[in-house]
Amino acid sequence: MIIAETHRLILRTLNESDLDALMSVWGDQEVMRYSGGAGTREREENALKFYITLYKENGYSPYAVIEKKNQGFLGVCGFNPPSENGEIELVYHFAKKHWGMGYATEAAEACIDYAKNHFLTDKIAAFIDPENIGSENVLKKLGFEYKGAKFHQGSQKIEPYFVLTL
Ligand SMILES: CC(C)(COP(=O)(O)OP(=O)(O)OC[C@H]1O[C@@H](n2cnc3c(N)ncnc32)[C@H](O)[C@@H]1OP(=O)(O)O)[C@@H](O)C(=O)NCCC(=O)NCCS
Repeated sequence: MIIAETHRLILRTLNESDLDALMSVWGDQEVMRYSGGAGTREREENALKFYITLYKENGYSPYAVIEKKNQGFLGVCGFNPPSENGEIELVYHFAKKHWGMGYATEAAEACIDYAKNHFLTDKIAAFIDPENIGSENVLKKLGFEYKGAKFHQGSQKIEPYFVLTL
């Protein structure tokens, strides 16, 4: 199912046949350096199943980001479930050869619009590793506000915490 279309991108729901493409992202140590490290195929197959169910039950998940021009799989962008008493979390992971072309910002803007238009939430959170300058820049471009350091259940670490109010 198509979630959004932008100038260059299509965002669609994940499906089970995406595993090979996802391994080029979630299975790559450099891409996942600030997100808990590269996963095994088995771990990411479980993650994919979790996200397919998450979308069916809640209407959000990370989505596949596809390049319109050649239908190539660039990465994922979308939402993780909230931490306890928190907001849904914006996440984005792109294959390394596609970094630096504005895709993360373009995809995340479309996800934020989707959340707004489908009343998924009125606030979106994001946590980053303090060394992940690229990710911090994406959040700043999207208008997220830094709210201090907060414990993040996903990473089990205290991390810089950002919020966007819709
Ligand atoms: C972080 C990430 C998503 C950025 O994707 P991207 O498509 O390259 O981002 P954009 O091109 O939209 O860049 C947005 C801004 O950040 C800047 N930026 C991107 N990567 C950067 C880096 N490594 N260092 C400094 N600035 C960076 C860009 O120059 C751009 O600013 P500009 O428009 O003023 O030039 C991508 O590098 C990635 O997938 N990293 C691995 C996964 C990850 O860490 N995800 C975040 C955790 S949820």
